[in-house]
Amino acid sequence: MCGILGYIGNRDCVRFLIDGLKRVEYRGYDSAGILIYDGKNTSVVKQPGKIIELEKLIGDSLKGNAGIAHTRWATHGEPGHANSHPHVSNNGNIFLVHNGIIENYTSLKKKLEKESFTFYSDTDTEILVNLIQFYYAGCIENAVKRALADVEGTYGIGVFCSEEPGVLIAARMGSPLLIGIGENENYFASDPASVLKQTDEVVYMQDGEIAVITDSKVVHKTLDDVLLEKDVEKISFELSEIEKSGYDHFMLKEIFEQPRTINDSMRGRILLDEGTTKLGGLSEHPEIYSRLLNAKKIFIVACGTSWHSGLIGEYMIEEYARIPVEVEYASEFRYRDPIITPGTVVIAVSQSGETADTLAAIKEAKRKGATVFGICNVVGSTISKETDAGVYLHAGPEIGVASTKAFTSQVIVLALITIDLARHRNMSFREGYKIVKELKNLPEMVEKILENSEKIKELAKKFSSASNFLYLGRGFNFPVALEGALKLKEISYIHAEGYPAAEMKHGPIALIDENMPVVFIAAKDSIYDKVVTNIREVKARNGIIIAIASESDSEIDLIADYVIKIPEVTNLLSPILTVIPLQLLAYYIAAEKGYDVDMPRNLAKSVTVE
Ligand code: AGP
Repeated sequence: MCGILGYIGNRDCVRFLIDGLKRVEYRGYDSAGILIYDGKNTSVVKQPGKIIELEKLIGDSLKGNAGIAHTRWATHGEPGHANSHPHVSNNGNIFLVHNGIIENYTSLKKKLEKESFTFYSDTDTEILVNLIQFYYAGCIENAVKRALADVEGTYGIGVFCSEEPGVLIAARMGSPLLIGIGENENYFASDPASVLKQTDEVVYMQDGEIAVITDSKVVHKTLDDVLLEKDVEKISFELSEIEKSGYDHFMLKEIFEQPRTINDSMRGRILLDEGTTKLGGLSEHPEIYSRLLNAKKIFIVACGTSWHSGLIGEYMIEEYARIPVEVEYASEFRYRDPIITPGTVVIAVSQSGETADTLAAIKEAKRKGATVFGICNVVGSTISKETDAGVYLHAGPEIGVASTKAFTSQVIVLALITIDLARHRNMSFREGYKIVKELKNLPEMVEKILENSEKIKELAKKFSSASNFLYLGRGFNFPVALEGALKLKEISYIHAEGYPAAEMKHGPIALIDENMPVVFIAAKDSIYDKVVTNIREVKARNGIIIAIASESDSEIDLIADYVIKIPEVTNLLSPILTVIPLQLLAYYIAAEKGYDVDMPRNLAKSVTVE
């Protein structure tokens, strides 16, 4: 996610643009930039780092009554001056800020290179601003429409053209965008927080719409030129809430973002007609990619929540691609002199891309001759640069210290890699088609679980004073049991353990009594009956049973004390669904206890120390 903002009117707009960017810094903050038109000339200033760095650089050097601005969360191209927005067309007349992902940017780039366009950044956005120049024939509105007709993907954009300085163009497809209505001035913004100080009158744009904005008027149309009558609405939020989109904490916002972030992690990576997947970050490096396809052994190294998703990756890859996988805590891997033989591949999983232990494990693996792949959320992070190739999550900034949306996106990416490996081995088209079709339905299934959040909130109130929890699962859901326990520990400070359900008999069952809530992940699968047996064993010792179960399961209601139902899905993908109620349970318990959910005691979002 990025933050975009634009102004056209009769005031100096530099202060408005800088302050407006600061209000959406949580959307992305690895670099920022601004274009200002002073009535005669255009000036572009861009700066890596937070917006305060851009502000210092600008000082009092800029004044102007039209401008566009951007704070970046990198998706294509590392953070840095060249990849920061606004991007400028080759002829220097057209300026663009963009929030979203253009999926067909490679083919569009080839088309423009044939027309002698040149490119100076690694971004998809620079392709779009030059495509607009390619179509420009004296009307910026028409040029933008024609360019967007060629685009596949998502965008919220703002465009300024120095040949038509009295107008800004805004357009939306898949990324939020609104128009702010002022007195002799108007604005576009990705988030109401940016304009709330100036106006509470806004028009929310919908997908496929374009807006032609002057200081006195805004004309709304569809991309195929149909005039639209749009309602002006009032912003109802307080500013402080808006950054969290009305949620009490970033963690809750990020839990509820998961239908979108799961979709974004799959965007452009599913080839339904071929019953397989395609990850650009791998296939763009054929020689390195072939080492993964032909791997004889895979190590997955990570820490914390990322280690849990790595464990799910082990179960996936071994079951479907039949490649031996070993998951290691990065901190252990780096010191135990691992055996790296020819054909060994290491996959490092890290949301932040800055975890010191994971980075050290990568270096040790490379020292021993392994090819190393990264699965990261932060573009241009240290780990993403240290690995030979990799895949980004596209989950957007994860602000809450307790990882939620990054975990589900990591599992999605590991599933995509699994399917790709398996379809290069013995997985049939039919089996691959069935799985990728279910992948596409996941966002809707997650949405359905989130609609049940009030029931989970009520359940959390019953257990917020518990002092111990046990989380039990089998197979793909054993790592989910570990993740559920970690979520509860790190934000509610309640002691919790995750175990393979059968392992409970080898010791932990001694803990069971009438004060012990035991969370069972009991989704319908081939070992469901064994989980039911474990539930009965806990029941026989007066344990309190909380079960995460499949919608169709009526038996579980007879034996569990509390049941949270989730949609049916193939076993491989079930962790994406079973983890959601556990994230919510942990969140609501911590919130009930009044703790600082986003910044729990003793923790940091990225552990950059050993
Ligand atoms: C997860 O909720 C924790 N914040 C922590 O375990 C985290 O997963 C771990 O520190 C790894 O971080 P990374 O994914 O950024 O490498």
